[in-house]
Amino acid sequence: MHSAEEAELATAKGRVEELRARIEHHSHRYYVLDAPEISDAEFDQLLRELGTLEQRHPELLTPDSPTQRVGGVAAARFAPAKHSSRLLSLDNVFDGEELSAWHDRVVKGLGREPSYVCEPKIDGVSVAVVYERGILIRGATRGDGDVGEDVTANVRTIRGVPTRLRTADPPAWLEVRGEVFLRLADFARLNKELGEAGKPLLANPRNATAGLLRQKDPSVTAARPISVYFHGLIRIEGRAPASYSETLALLREVGLRTHPESKPCATMDEVRAYVTDMEARRHALEHEIDGAVIKVDRLADANELGATSKFPRWAIAYKFPAEEQTTKLLDIQVSVGRTGAVTPFAVLDPVRVGGVTISMATLHNAEEVERKGVLIGDSVVVRRAGEVIPEVVAPIPSLRKGDERRFVMPTDCPVCGTPIVRPEGEAVARCPNLQCPAQVLGRIVHFAGRGAMDIEHLGERTAAELLDRNLIATPADIFYLTAPQIGQLPGFKDRAITNLETAIAEAKNRPIDRLLYGFGIRHVGASAARALADAFGSIDRIAASSAEEIAAVDGVGDVIAGAARAFFDRPETRELLEKLRRAGVRLDEQRATPSGHLDGKTFVITGTLAALSREAAKSRIEALGGKVTSGLSGKTDYLVVGESPGTKLDKATKLGVATLDEAAFLALLAGDQPAAADDAS
Ligand code: IVH
Repeated sequence: MHSAEEAELATAKGRVEELRARIEHHSHRYYVLDAPEISDAEFDQLLRELGTLEQRHPELLTPDSPTQRVGGVAAARFAPAKHSSRLLSLDNVFDGEELSAWHDRVVKGLGREPSYVCEPKIDGVSVAVVYERGILIRGATRGDGDVGEDVTANVRTIRGVPTRLRTADPPAWLEVRGEVFLRLADFARLNKELGEAGKPLLANPRNATAGLLRQKDPSVTAARPISVYFHGLIRIEGRAPASYSETLALLREVGLRTHPESKPCATMDEVRAYVTDMEARRHALEHEIDGAVIKVDRLADANELGATSKFPRWAIAYKFPAEEQTTKLLDIQVSVGRTGAVTPFAVLDPVRVGGVTISMATLHNAEEVERKGVLIGDSVVVRRAGEVIPEVVAPIPSLRKGDERRFVMPTDCPVCGTPIVRPEGEAVARCPNLQCPAQVLGRIVHFAGRGAMDIEHLGERTAAELLDRNLIATPADIFYLTAPQIGQLPGFKDRAITNLETAIAEAKNRPIDRLLYGFGIRHVGASAARALADAFGSIDRIAASSAEEIAAVDGVGDVIAGAARAFFDRPETRELLEKLRRAGVRLDEQRATPSGHLDGKTFVITGTLAALSREAAKSRIEALGGKVTSGLSGKTDYLVVGESPGTKLDKATKLGVATLDEAAFLALLAGDQPAAADDAS
């Protein structure tokens, strides 16, 4: 070799080594420690430079190079991979009682209480990874527990699986067990891309992961951000951790990710608390879990307990309620929302899923029904995760009998009969009739709903009853409801009437961004509403601004501005605003100074009221122009006396302050003339 070439090769070799070290370092920061030091672009730049050098000098290429995570040869089929020892599954318990029974068996087996480690049970795909003298040599699926599939080329592409362990002194053999999965955010992104490309969507992160892991072309796997956590040893040579806690520490030390929510639990009470907490936080994690795993910590204890042919006796899975179930799709009907969107929904044979029984699930839109390929009469997989609306995930075509039929989107609005329109290029079909009863109801429900005016006790049912009886027609009418009117509704008696009245009175003082959001203007979501409220400070000022002025607000653009302008230009909107104003609903950032028949009156409340809370009583008084103070003085107009009043009652008598019992107070709120102060005491 020419000496110039030699020199170049030597320089290249030095640079290649430097790049590999830096890439491994940054991979570790990013994928294991979750604390990147450089941007993705800078990272890609390092990888590209390394790739270029390896291409120019193929003799420098090694199988453990970080560039080898991507690409590789497409395997025709996966070769069998025999695990060093059997990968057992976990036995399940489903409630606290079964958990205690398992613990009792452990205690009986050991003759004493062990300490445990708890961790989330990741709903992913089990893998076994082998490092020989620190180099990744094999990645395999679990298979039947003894023999899995060799998916090394794909496992190599997973960023959290280092191709080389981060230790100067690696064990001669390290065979570890882990769970690969897609984080929810990555899964959502993947499905969004598939949807945009018109491809069928993936049912859930677990299926998606399984599919990616078994891809024949590893570059497909490489292009997807699969994550991994390791949770056990299959075989180790050279080191011998004495507990599961030590195992986790060892894995972390050599650069293998373990679950950040793994937690030692010294007692069964701690285990129970862990399980309860994990179930409560189930949907706040980055990935799906289907339970918690409880493991006896000391390996000597675990060995003493041993295993059955299928399950270890030293570990148990505490399963949370399943979030996917199979049921029958009885029918597909459509509903009309507040924006007129006509949405197909599934009528299901009731099924228990995610801890509740569901009989309906959303199907989003007609295209989605097509894309999912569900037929009326199909057996379908349904899903309900946390607060998320239940949805039909996919049909199970193998269970078809032949009498299933396709869903046809109706041409007319099922509520008002107006022909449905579907603008070119939009997925959503709409009823264009703004007066469609379904839209009117939808607008009221949205207005009174959470995030908007938040009027408790005014849900869909009540709103529908009020509309049916012509007691309201627009959101503003809510603020004019009287007690006798509310009393006409089924189930509304004394206490319920007061509750609703109180909730309505309280809503008058909501910040204006909530009111603005409550109007349900197209494109004006909660954050746009907040931006507009902050910028203009009052509904009137927004209404008086041009589209350009509105569009100039940070976080608001032409589309939102156009929609807002169109809303405020409607004569109905002017009427609505006037009506709200007259009712004393706050229309600017400053607290409206409400006025009513209690103007300037000062109240003190003592004891417990039966019909409403202290807070609610205060809101009601304030909404009518009155004031509530804590200290009784000569300036107090009324002392409201509930059950078990304190010393204030005596004091009021001494000061000559009028007292009102609860009935008199409620009558006063309702607008009856207060009895002359003297008579009331
Ligand atoms: S320990 C012998 N820990 O759940 C015990 N498994 O239903 C080995 N899994 O096949 C398993 N998260 O793939 C363990 N933190 C965790 C886990 C976990 C998920 C999977 C694992 C196993 C399955 C059993």
